[in-house]
Amino acid sequence: MCGIVGYTGSRQAYPIVIDGLKKLEYRGYDSSGVALQQGSSLKVYKKAGKVAALEEHIGIASTLGTTGIGHTRWATHGEPSDRNAHPHISKSGNLAMIHNGIIENYAQIKNELIKEGYQFQSDTDSEVLLNFIEDIKTNNACSLEEAIRIALKRVTGAYVILIIDAEQPDTIIAARKGSPLVIGIGNKEHFLGSDASPMLAYTKEVVYINDYELAIVRPDELILKNLGNEVITPFVQKLDLELAAIEKGGYDHFMLKEIFEQPSTIADSLRGRLVLHESRIILSGVDAIQEKLRNARRVIIVACGTSWHAGLLAEYVIEELCRINVEVEYASEFRYRNPIIDGDDVIIAISQSGETADTLVALERAKEQGATIFGIVNVVGSSIARISHAGCYTHAGPEIGVASTKAYTAQLAVLMLLALKVAQERGTISNERFQALCHELNDIPGKVQWILDHEVDNIKAIAYKYKDAHDALYLGRGYNFPTALEGALKLKEISYIHAEGYPAAEMKHGPIALVDEQLPVVFIASQDAYHEKIISNMQEIKARKGKVIAVVSEGDEITPTIADDIMTVPLADEVIAPLLTVVPLQLLSYYIGVYRGLDVDKPRNLAKSVTVE
Ligand code: F6R
Repeated sequence: MCGIVGYTGSRQAYPIVIDGLKKLEYRGYDSSGVALQQGSSLKVYKKAGKVAALEEHIGIASTLGTTGIGHTRWATHGEPSDRNAHPHISKSGNLAMIHNGIIENYAQIKNELIKEGYQFQSDTDSEVLLNFIEDIKTNNACSLEEAIRIALKRVTGAYVILIIDAEQPDTIIAARKGSPLVIGIGNKEHFLGSDASPMLAYTKEVVYINDYELAIVRPDELILKNLGNEVITPFVQKLDLELAAIEKGGYDHFMLKEIFEQPSTIADSLRGRLVLHESRIILSGVDAIQEKLRNARRVIIVACGTSWHAGLLAEYVIEELCRINVEVEYASEFRYRNPIIDGDDVIIAISQSGETADTLVALERAKEQGATIFGIVNVVGSSIARISHAGCYTHAGPEIGVASTKAYTAQLAVLMLLALKVAQERGTISNERFQALCHELNDIPGKVQWILDHEVDNIKAIAYKYKDAHDALYLGRGYNFPTALEGALKLKEISYIHAEGYPAAEMKHGPIALVDEQLPVVFIASQDAYHEKIISNMQEIKARKGKVIAVVSEGDEITPTIADDIMTVPLADEVIAPLLTVVPLQLLSYYIGVYRGLDVDKPRNLAKSVTVE
């Protein structure tokens, strides 16, 4: 959460920083600000609201300067407001700082500073950290760099900070623990960002900063040190990412673009891995821990949100195909509940961003206890990718819309490959079934394309019909249950309609009390082993005058006679079908959000990368 940008070089910093903030706005968008070095003084502008509000606020004011930092905020401490927006200015006025993360012991430090006579302008933990650094610098008569090191050894929590100092022209000092920071290397210029998107137009050479590292960044040098003041050689990597991947490309919203990208992103997830003619799946990450997986007595899946839903589906698939016991854990619960883990355990972490704080810390704990960590991550080089012993990237490309869509289907595709490969190695799947499922998987991109070609107008009409609903239920059984949860989450996020996902049979144990003629109930009713049972559940809703919307497989003749509205997907094996059935639900949420006049790419209160707990 929170996006940070920095630039130092010979160009004007402001346009680069503002453009970078717009690219990072998915990380938080309740306020934003910039600080620029102008000679020996600092110019700071900040404003509540989105980056556009900041630009309007700055208007024609001076934005000169070749070194600058910028921040887009997702509030943790203090309401979204002008004064709580970053950058913060130190008491002397010499330092400006932006921060992504949470300083957990800020209250104690704040009290110490208040006793020394400090007065704070904001409610943030960030302003406390900045003044703590300045206080150390003054009291110890040391350099800013040394003061930062001392301060960071005292604070607990997570941070990326970028500081500029009126007394050190052309210099940005940055440090990280637990939140992401990338530095792009240009020709006598450097770019800093929470991810690589702000620098993509200028350079492909980047350095991912690690925890407890501090960077002194000037136009022509990047000095990297640890908190013990030892110099570290930066590891420069080449970005495999094009600018077009982070632009809307003619779509009204990133979310719509990303839904429509799914035929190609799923194909990318499968490419080079699903080798049909050899009846083989190549996943080098799995090979790296082959023995562990082959002999595993259980697998624990750790994730949050949509990624957790992918994990839940993986539980069904892995248990059925591989006959391995799977436990699916919310990372936020797992990290705090002293789980029983040993060296035989394999933990699969699923994360789009690779930076989700709860997932990251859960993995660190499990790793300390000897577990093997396997990461299924979308963002290359992210923290979860780096702490994993082995893993697979999902290759969905940058996902900018805050609600996850293409990253989810890419996760499902990789998890299915993993399950098939492990099942083949363990001998728990017949050759015929293996081949059939591989072919089904291979057909998925084309089938998703079919949905996008044939169903959009129908789904738009359904969205329009139900756009004013206050609540919705999503029901599914077996492989369709995780999809029900995911459909409900998408609707909540994008439309602010209260929605709940349930196992369809569980409905009669309580939720059925909600059913009346106003309540839309979305059934995930593609062909599977429970189809007749789910039809009975639909009848139960109809008998109580509820409105039934059903996702059905092509060729289903019965469901359309019961349901009020249907969304059709091509026929597929029940194990693979969740890659299809979720697509109409993504579209339904998207169009309901649009018809309600909401900002679907930036839903209220949310942020794309949840780097605070
Ligand atoms: C929902 C959504 C979130 C994320 C969750 C985990 O649309 O995007 O629920 O799935 O915050 O994020 P990652 O996958 O980045 O760990």
